[in-house]
Amino acid sequence: MHSLTPLPAELVDFYDDGEHTRHFHFRLLEEPLGTSREHLSHWQQTQTGQFFMLTVPSLGEAPFSFTEVPDENGHFRALIRRMGAVTSALFELEAGQVLGVRGPFGIGWPMDEISNKRVLAIGGGCGLAPLVSAVDQLIERQNYTQLTLVYGARTRQAQMLNPERERWQHIIPVYNTIEDGLTNGRDNEYPGTPSDILPSVLDTFGELPEVVLLAGPEAMMYSIAEYLVAYGVSAQAIYLSIERRMHCAVGTCGHCYMDSQYACTDGPTFRWDQLPSK
Ligand SMILES: Cc1cc2nc3c(=O)[nH]c(=O)nc-3n(C[C@H](O)[C@H](O)[C@H](O)COP(=O)(O)OP(=O)(O)OC[C@H]3O[C@@H](n4cnc5c(N)ncnc54)[C@H](O)[C@@H]3O)c2cc1C
Ligand code: FES
Repeated sequence: MHSLTPLPAELVDFYDDGEHTRHFHFRLLEEPLGTSREHLSHWQQTQTGQFFMLTVPSLGEAPFSFTEVPDENGHFRALIRRMGAVTSALFELEAGQVLGVRGPFGIGWPMDEISNKRVLAIGGGCGLAPLVSAVDQLIERQNYTQLTLVYGARTRQAQMLNPERERWQHIIPVYNTIEDGLTNGRDNEYPGTPSDILPSVLDTFGELPEVVLLAGPEAMMYSIAEYLVAYGVSAQAIYLSIERRMHCAVGTCGHCYMDSQYACTDGPTFRWDQLPSK
């Protein structure tokens, strides 16, 4: 089922969010264009935290997380930052254009293990993208004993997923940090980085978090993981979403090799104590 041949997907619509970042809504196209019922049901089994490869014809492919995993009609979404050739080309597209997609790939967040636990989710910048569907799923199923989100952005303009965080903060504690310190004075917004407010966030947990999900810049994730372990959180309770340059996404080309593992097939989510090449 993990074909190297992309399936056709239509760009349904999009909207800008933050700086140089855009939400894209895709729909897998059914036969006769290419996506058989079998493929569709495979995509419908996507786990939160998995990723897909998106092809811009004649330009290339790049991996992206699902902010919404495919529904029964093959609709799914991603939050994409403009970086280089592939992403810049994506920002030039109009609704209705057809792209190629492969996937879903990799190991997602351990949602079964998270069930009925005290969960702390921390995202930095565009790194919040792989956490969106996990937070939504936990809230929808209400299967946590505590769920707290910390989101860090460099500036107010760079903040993204505002409607989502607004919606979540009515249901769970959401702490927003802004690195340049220009906060709006609201009580869930703090100057600095997620690391700066971590001690006070941990104080709100009666007992230690039982699961921590981290996504964002590696330096941020690594320093937070080290802090949490020193604080007493089990290394086996901490999961990170790791990004590496990828080509095949199926463990054959070696581009994403990390010591003894491949980020594409052994990741992109890794448990902190099992993460190669820290
Ligand atoms: C599993 C996974 C999930 C991802 N999810 C998202 C997502 O949800 N949203 C999003 O915007 N991006 C995501 N990315 C990153 C995204 O794939 C890259 O930004 C993309 O490859 C850029 O392609 P490009 O052709 O536009 O830029 P390129 O020309 O390939 O690169 C532009 C710049 O980005 C750097 N770069 C490219 N890819 C990576 C990478 N994987 N790690 C570190 N630096 C890189 C290059 O070195 C270069 O400096 C994810 C990556 C992985 C591996
Ligand atoms: S991208 Fe080819 S081995 Fe991971």
